[in-house]
Amino acid sequence: MLNEKVAELLNTQINKEFYSAYLYLAFANYFSDEGLDGFANWYNVQAQEERDHAMLIRQYMQNNDAPITFSAIDQPDTNFKSHMEVLENGLEHERYVTGLINNIYAAAYDVKDFRTMQFLDWFVKEQGEEETNATDLIKKMNLFGSDPKSLYLLDQELAARTYAAPSLVL
Ligand code: FEO
Repeated sequence: MLNEKVAELLNTQINKEFYSAYLYLAFANYFSDEGLDGFANWYNVQAQEERDHAMLIRQYMQNNDAPITFSAIDQPDTNFKSHMEVLENGLEHERYVTGLINNIYAAAYDVKDFRTMQFLDWFVKEQGEEETNATDLIKKMNLFGSDPKSLYLLDQELAARTYAAPSLVL
């Protein structure tokens, strides 16, 4: 049986991951409206990954007979003033999620819940990758975003991102 606090944090995290998917779909909508379909693709793939994160935590809770409650998903703020603002919001959001994952890990550590810690190891690594990806995107936008031809090529590059199911086996 999962510790009550660990279970509650995991349950909340399901909602946060679905919110992340919602947020990235809002980013994709923005870039689609801007005519940058490669960026839109990149965030659509990202949204699929976020949905996977939610589903993995849901499955983990189910595997441990922990009851799950779904609550309303917040509305993402979509009042973006520039391409860069969207990218920066993405990085800020991933840092926030890293903090949430770390909090769950700390709660599991406190009660010697090694199984949950092992489950979360994948998420800790994943958060590192997501922060790196978001940072790299900002760097590229800084370098190429102000030149239309370069922005076009960057958009083409991002159009090549494809979805791959998570490697984590529960
Ligand atoms: Fe599920 Fe991007 O964190």
